[in-house]
Amino acid sequence: MQTLDQIVAAAHAAFATAIDADALEQAKARYLGKSGLITEQLKTLGALPPEEKKQRGAEVNQAKTTIETALASRRDELKRAALAARLAEEALDVTLPGRGQTPGGLHPVTRTLERIEELFRSIGFAVADGPEIETDFYNFTALNTPENHPARSMHDTFYLADDSGQPLEDILLRTHTSPIQARYMEAHVAATRHLPTMPEIRVIAPGRVYRVDSDATHSPMFHQVEGLWVGEEVSFADLKGVIADFLRRFFESEDLKVRFRPSFFPFTEPSAEIDVAFMHGALTGRWLEIAGCGMVHPNVLAHVGIDPERYTGFAFGMGPDRLTMLRYGINDLRLFFDGDLRFLRQFS
Ligand code: DAH
Repeated sequence: MQTLDQIVAAAHAAFATAIDADALEQAKARYLGKSGLITEQLKTLGALPPEEKKQRGAEVNQAKTTIETALASRRDELKRAALAARLAEEALDVTLPGRGQTPGGLHPVTRTLERIEELFRSIGFAVADGPEIETDFYNFTALNTPENHPARSMHDTFYLADDSGQPLEDILLRTHTSPIQARYMEAHVAATRHLPTMPEIRVIAPGRVYRVDSDATHSPMFHQVEGLWVGEEVSFADLKGVIADFLRRFFESEDLKVRFRPSFFPFTEPSAEIDVAFMHGALTGRWLEIAGCGMVHPNVLAHVGIDPERYTGFAFGMGPDRLTMLRYGINDLRLFFDGDLRFLRQFS
């Protein structure tokens, strides 16, 4: 039979090797349970003579107390270890970035539009807006575009349809930002009618335009920026100066070459295409078309009630998508409108 000391030593060892609370409770039962070794010892006391019983009883109780103390301390130890393990497992690294929040950025074309607005504002231009759903009148007629002009054909222009799918001949998605010229001049004339001399009009109008067209350099939706300067002595020389100065500042290139090539638009006379050539980089020396322009046609001025004998003006319409492609060296226009973040993130 084991001595009390042996039982106490065995209990210590059993508690120390119990790896969790369950194992510890089982070990406890072996010593302190109903038929545990200590309990068995207590049961034997009754058969002993009184003197021996007192002495043996004290020894067994002492052993029992020692085992209970060891049990309590091992219980504490296991509890603390379990808590430490749980804390480690559930630890949060508060220095990691959050999962759902990535910083946003401006679309490259938006960057270009903001840049264009800033540069024109710096020389006294206002920024105007107009509807994307336009009437045939403002999109074509007010701009001196004849009834049979090819731009009016169903191939280029998105017409709106009624509920039954019948095209509405007079309502369309604007094919250019030029209708804002007519709308802006009309409003300006109405607002300044009471003055002896009409104050100058100096405005740009950026926005989305639509055409039935799609390939690497054409998208059915694209952007234009319209420009208009009307006053008493506005000349083609002013047009050249404003455009060349703008382009050199936009591309941050003092030696940028700018060329005005004769062209035709119904709403300007004379009309020109504007080409640029870079003197640095991959495109060096190649003429690239970036805008149309000209002196506002007398019919357009007369249409909105401005006397073409007294006032003259120039207008231009440029492609900010194209400007963005040139500025960043992008070769496919569709990348701008696919919404692929891998592409767009490069600009934020
Ligand atoms: N609206 C023309 C287009 O979309 C561009 C244009 C050319 C605008 C000459 C103008 C201009 O204001 O004067 O092709």
